[in-house]
Amino acid sequence: MLRIILLIVFLSQSAFYSFGQSSGTIDQKVRALLKKMTLEEKIGQMNQYNGFWDITGPAPSEENARKKYDHLRTGMVGSMLNIRGVENVRKLQKIAIEESRLGIPLIFGFDVIHGYKTISPIPLAEAASWDLEAIEKSARIAATEASAEGINWTFAPMVDITRDARWGRVMEGAGEDTYLGSRIAAARVKGFQGSDLSQTNTIAACAKHFAGYGFSESGKDYNTVDVGTSTLFNTILPPFKACVDAGVATFMNSFNDLNGIPATGNSFLQRDVLKGKWNFKGFVVSDWGSIGEMIDHRFAKDLKDASRLAIHGGCDMDMESYGYVNHLKTLVETGAVSVKHIDDAVFRILKVKFQLGLFDDPFKYCDIEKEKSLVGHADHLDGVLDIAKKSMVLLKNDNNLLPLPKSGKRIALIGDLADDKNSPLGSWRLAAADNSAVSVLEGMQKYIGKSLAFANGPKLFTGAETFINELNINTTDTSGLGEARVAAQSADIVVLVLGEHGYQSGEGRSRTNLDLPGLQQELLDEIFKVNKNIVLVLMNGRPLTIVKAKDQATAILEAWQPGTQSGHAIAQVLFGDFNPSGKLPMSFPRSTGQVPLYYNYKSTGRPGPKDLVFWSHYSDEINAPLFPFGFGLSYTNFEYTNLKITKKGVRDIVVSVVVTNTGKMDGSEVVQLYLTDKVASITRPVKELKGFEKVQIAAGKSKEVTFLLSRDELGFFKENGDYIVESGDFEIMVGGNSEKGLNGSFTLDKIVSKK
Ligand code: NOJ
Repeated sequence: MLRIILLIVFLSQSAFYSFGQSSGTIDQKVRALLKKMTLEEKIGQMNQYNGFWDITGPAPSEENARKKYDHLRTGMVGSMLNIRGVENVRKLQKIAIEESRLGIPLIFGFDVIHGYKTISPIPLAEAASWDLEAIEKSARIAATEASAEGINWTFAPMVDITRDARWGRVMEGAGEDTYLGSRIAAARVKGFQGSDLSQTNTIAACAKHFAGYGFSESGKDYNTVDVGTSTLFNTILPPFKACVDAGVATFMNSFNDLNGIPATGNSFLQRDVLKGKWNFKGFVVSDWGSIGEMIDHRFAKDLKDASRLAIHGGCDMDMESYGYVNHLKTLVETGAVSVKHIDDAVFRILKVKFQLGLFDDPFKYCDIEKEKSLVGHADHLDGVLDIAKKSMVLLKNDNNLLPLPKSGKRIALIGDLADDKNSPLGSWRLAAADNSAVSVLEGMQKYIGKSLAFANGPKLFTGAETFINELNINTTDTSGLGEARVAAQSADIVVLVLGEHGYQSGEGRSRTNLDLPGLQQELLDEIFKVNKNIVLVLMNGRPLTIVKAKDQATAILEAWQPGTQSGHAIAQVLFGDFNPSGKLPMSFPRSTGQVPLYYNYKSTGRPGPKDLVFWSHYSDEINAPLFPFGFGLSYTNFEYTNLKITKKGVRDIVVSVVVTNTGKMDGSEVVQLYLTDKVASITRPVKELKGFEKVQIAAGKSKEVTFLLSRDELGFFKENGDYIVESGDFEIMVGGNSEKGLNGSFTLDKIVSKK
């Protein structure tokens, strides 16, 4: 018996090693392997199972867990998600390699969204840095840590454009703008994947959620999506295309339906656009259970039907629907699904596994020593500190209250979030240790030690803080209010830390009310009664409605959820060792009723303002946001002069501007270029970001910044998806935010093509 087992082990191992070491290109190796596979084994590669713990979804029942192990042994699983730690990865990989007939390695996926163990700021915050290099580096740090733990594949970047701050997942994207979102999408893909997927510090990226998820109706997660073709082609799809151009290895489809067809079964999106027009060669994974959810969408009558629709739609791998593994074989045997579709899907999946080098060594990413050495790694801590500081946006600074003096003033720090070491890690911090962030209290104490007075104020929440449960916000227990008031009374300056808990945004966490949650506005009201020198530090995962707080606070720093180094980053900005340079990647509404709110809106036929009521407006609120897209102050000032527009060749426009740092401190400015197409064959936004550059300028010095506008910036997609550049008049604005800048114009002549 033992001899038979040994023989089987030997045979399966030798089968495995022959794939990696056989000669030829990756495509040839994949083809050779496909030939050896049975239909069941092919379907197995298209099946992805969640692991055995509550992580991004519930753990399986005991019976289901047993089934998963059986399927691993019989080669019916191609990928696992939510497996953490070298030991666990190794154990499962060993089963796949040694016990399944062909020994095809598993690919391990995980939501490495903003860091792995060392946590970066939430993606929306990183977007506020407008610093592509720092964003790429942050993704590389995450990839380095995750790959050392056996993870091969992250479900990131999320490149969903979104205009609705009610939607909890705004924290996970790059905000409301397509141009900025596309540039950041490419930077993140490069950061995760590097230039060679087989390196042990790179992982496969996944552009998600394809497509339209960011337009969930009424900002409610998982909701239906109905958008016109102009929005689809011009706003939603370009960041996904940017990922394809950057070489992204995989895509994830989405939970939502799009104009009547669930994205998971949407062949227009996945087959015509992604794999057709864009020629994407990687594979598409479903979102968690989204194949099965087509039954709830009332698009499929049962799981078998849903599986048929998903594979026809172009979905290559089934995450946790159990649809492909249970039904694809029958569907093929009855002729309902062509084996060509199966072969294509498996080809794509195996190809990524080969690219990762898993066939050369399935355990190459399992390095216990490396895993250990990376915890608390100084470079990683420095990297996330750097981007955390760059992500912060100074929203108000009257009387130059900031930076804070390092001595000579009594400073009181107040707020439940100020002493919190968990919430600042944000929502997708699944592999980080609980309470591993530096709190604001710790960060500020490093500067002024025990002279810093601290009062907690009322608790923000009660009960457990977990990724999978609703958070319970405290709206009744006011204890702590009196103590906070006393602390404020005896201070010269109050630093008040308010916002949202890290688990108030993220998946499944939509809100109808964007005000400061719980008793935080009451706390601010109390403090305002006794001290007017208030520095408000906001820690939140989405734009908030803070009209009253904006008036009460003298200075406001938007810090978001900055990750592991939160307290250090915030303190360095507050005390002026870092000059803030972030700019908002999403407009901040004045009231929730304004959302969806975005700077690149359409003019409408009744733009106004007009005297009578007959124009596009509200009776009880102005149209403008509280803080516009692209807005952010600095401890210094920047002046824009010398706007020049020149033509280069037939269709290229060169725009230059001189930016001068007129203050006393060195600083960085994000110079933004907005374009308006005055008349076009479809209605176009009032303006659109079409270029930006972040420049460091020493106090008193100037820099010339130049932009080139060519085909990619000047045109747009028509209703049928064709890209076109139209002749006519254009306006441009160059400045430090989307509302104010230097204006100019140019005309594009008609190009007459020679016969
Ligand atoms: C559901 C989320 O929508 C998706 O973004 C995530 O990657 C998967 N769960 C896996 O955790």
